[in-house]
Amino acid sequence: MVKTIQVKVNGYVEKLTIAPNRTLLDVLREDLALTGAKRGCEAGECGACTVIVNGRPVNSCMILAVEMDGAEILTIEGLSRGTQLDDMQQSFIDEFALQCGYCTPGMILMGKALLAENLQPTEETVREYIGGNLCRCTGYENIIKAILAVAAARKG
Ligand code: FES
Ligand code: FES
Repeated sequence: MVKTIQVKVNGYVEKLTIAPNRTLLDVLREDLALTGAKRGCEAGECGACTVIVNGRPVNSCMILAVEMDGAEILTIEGLSRGTQLDDMQQSFIDEFALQCGYCTPGMILMGKALLAENLQPTEETVREYIGGNLCRCTGYENIIKAILAVAAARKG
């Protein structure tokens, strides 16, 4: 039986009528056309589907959308302001931290979530924090540099 929920996604209130077996990833991509969260393993093991729910990063493939009633959700599409990129997005470009880009939305959101918790993480902390997000292309070094560069810039 379908259920109606209300969520706030990237600052916009959305009322959604959905089947109980659909994941948050399904609903973001198929109902809201927010395709930045990527469909990877669909088993909670790659992080490509990462979004931020109530301030915490989650694998959206592992969460039923009906459980999200009342939640605030941030996806990669919610970061830029028009053509103005968020500082973490810009840093990934500046540090050459992406190649194919499939992991990038999740990595950027993980970087943002980490710095929201810890303004000055060490390299090891960044490495551990993004440990559940897989990247087949970059070897991770530039991703870590990009996150640390934002931390350094915010410190001033
Ligand atoms: S697609 Fe969700 S963790 Fe891989
Ligand atoms: S840039 Fe290709 S998977 Fe990370």
